[in-house]
Amino acid sequence: MSTQSGAPARRITIHELRRMKERGEKIAVVTAYDATAARLVGEAGVDAVLVGDSLGMVVQGHESTLPVTLDHMVYHSAMVRRGLARAGARAHLVGDLPFGSYQASADEAVKAAMRLVAEGGVEAVKLEGGADYVEVIRRMVRAGVPVMGHIGLTPQSVHKLGGYVVQGKDAERAQALLRDARALEAAGAYAIVLECIPTELARIITGQLGIPTIGIGAGPSCDGQVLVLTDLLGMDKSFTPKFVKRYAELGDAVAGAVGRYVAEVKDRAFPAEEHVFHSSAVRLVPVPDDAEDDREEPPGVMGAPV
Ligand code: KIV
Repeated sequence: MSTQSGAPARRITIHELRRMKERGEKIAVVTAYDATAARLVGEAGVDAVLVGDSLGMVVQGHESTLPVTLDHMVYHSAMVRRGLARAGARAHLVGDLPFGSYQASADEAVKAAMRLVAEGGVEAVKLEGGADYVEVIRRMVRAGVPVMGHIGLTPQSVHKLGGYVVQGKDAERAQALLRDARALEAAGAYAIVLECIPTELARIITGQLGIPTIGIGAGPSCDGQVLVLTDLLGMDKSFTPKFVKRYAELGDAVAGAVGRYVAEVKDRAFPAEEHVFHSSAVRLVPVPDDAEDDREEPPGVMGAPV
């Protein structure tokens, strides 16, 4: 049975993710923002794809995620949905609720979440924040939208946090994060992202929750890991946070490939014979110097390419 745009019936569900935690199978999550990336990560076998609002920095070139709008998230989520469908991928798809779409009121928050599901094609939404968002999460879950929480370093609060810095390092903040995690689970969240917190704290939180934790800069005890695709592919040499492992150096590969293309265009090595079309049916129509504009056929090469 196909459920949406050619997608397989056996997509990884929120229940499957929980069963993975129960049997100790780690969950591999990666971000994607367009159809090509989604197809590739889907074919590579990730368990879940996050259309993160990190697209504000990675795709849009902003210095933070704050300018990303709900329209942007819907647009990119729909692309990723199509890419996963094309790959026949089973990956679970989550979309970020952007800054300003869920903080002002629970009503607005529920509408935003429903729009991301209905128009963006995601199966779940992610929102940043702790116990303050319990009511919002309850309302979304009641409306049928699974919610992934996100605590620790929450980039949408960068100004409040004073920068992109590790959270929960002292006992009081660590305790507050544990309370937040428990509150999100009680409110109905099906998973929680733990971003940039000490590995000891992530281990305790993970052990206290029945739902999976997905870590980024939170150590190996989390039930799963998430990385931004461009980081793991090494596409930006200037971005080197401690928690990122680069599995490729695509930045170098792209610069090298495009550099060779530029050189070959300049020295006429590209296009070569194998890139050229030929036609025996080509007929050249002489173009008189004083050609009039009302001629019946355009001048130049006529005939169908073969
Ligand atoms: O926006 C994003 O990509 C995220 C991940 C880093 C967890 O929230």
